[in-house]
Amino acid sequence: MFDTWRLLGPMMGLIGPERAHDLALRALETGVAGRRSSRERPGLATTLFGLDFPNPLGLAAGFDKNARVTAQMLAAGFGFVEAGTVTPRPQAGNPRPRIFRLPADRAVINRLGFNNEGMDQVAERLEARRPEAGIVGINIGMNRDSADAAGDYRDAFFRLAPLADYVVINVSSPNTPGLRDLQAVRQLARLLESLQGVRPEAPDVALLLKLAPDLASEDAGDAARVAADHGVAGLVVSNTTISRPAGLRHRHAGEAGGLSGSPLFDLSTSMVRTLHRAGNGALPIIGTGGIMSAQDAYLKIRAGASLIQIYTALVWHGLAVVGSILDGLEEHLAADGLGSLAEAVGADS
Ligand SMILES: Cc1cc2nc3c(=O)[nH]c(=O)nc-3n(C[C@H](O)[C@H](O)[C@H](O)COP(=O)(O)O)c2cc1C
Repeated sequence: MFDTWRLLGPMMGLIGPERAHDLALRALETGVAGRRSSRERPGLATTLFGLDFPNPLGLAAGFDKNARVTAQMLAAGFGFVEAGTVTPRPQAGNPRPRIFRLPADRAVINRLGFNNEGMDQVAERLEARRPEAGIVGINIGMNRDSADAAGDYRDAFFRLAPLADYVVINVSSPNTPGLRDLQAVRQLARLLESLQGVRPEAPDVALLLKLAPDLASEDAGDAARVAADHGVAGLVVSNTTISRPAGLRHRHAGEAGGLSGSPLFDLSTSMVRTLHRAGNGALPIIGTGGIMSAQDAYLKIRAGASLIQIYTALVWHGLAVVGSILDGLEEHLAADGLGSLAEAVGADS
């Protein structure tokens, strides 16, 4: 079995990030590529949202926007996969180029703008999935030209929630105008209230909220409180940042869009810490942002994340990073004399 990224590695710099991504997806889909590592990690297993996670490392939203390779990524070792963002109607997204690699900074900037095949196409794929393959969450958003944001989230929830293990309300992408305003208390309350109407469609499916790292900590705390009051079971912290932390070196650093990877780590981890402290662990957090190694993963968990996700690390390290993060996490727990992952969650907060 090949490793897609090994296969494509030498070409990555030549063919551009979006084409490389398409090729990687195709290779995974046809089963010619993929490195596997053991998904079942008894020492790292955790139960949350009524789901038994074999390990805490998930694939972040945006890699598999159309749920094409959920089974393959689970087979590669991920403990769970979040597909999406999916909008009700298909949309093309922003003009290309819209993904930029910043190798000097171990980072990516993207302004894709929710390019996806739409909820009906994705629903068809999810209908065909085998639940025993592993946990699949679905991340939903609104169409760019929608006049009714709440209606879009309702439609997407209605269609997709019955087919998923959890649903993430994405109000934090920087690439859809007005989307992040939905994080403001009143708008968020209205959005979540309007979702209550379709909640009975999938009463057992956990609803999560994904936040932007650019929220002031007070606003993030307010959003978390509103979320908890409206039946949200957990937070995904965080999406990409529109800020540009000092020290970025690559010439693409000035491109518009959301920054992910190493330079996002401190910002998103401090948001995890703040929200974990504020909520006393009441709203479990999926920590994502800048995890490139087992050490980063462990710090994110110790800051308060019960589960973690990666995307940009895959761009630099390929699927081999999944096994190395899981192996490293087991070592960190053992070195600190901790008997379970849960004991490490929030240990530094
Ligand atoms: C190319 C790209 C596309 C992304 N698309 C989405 C998306 O559609 N929905 C979403 O919620 N997050 C999206 N993200 C954000 C990731 O899910 C994640 O929150 C962020 O990249 C931080 O993690 P990382 O530093 O490990 O990449 C995207 C990230 C990248 C790099």
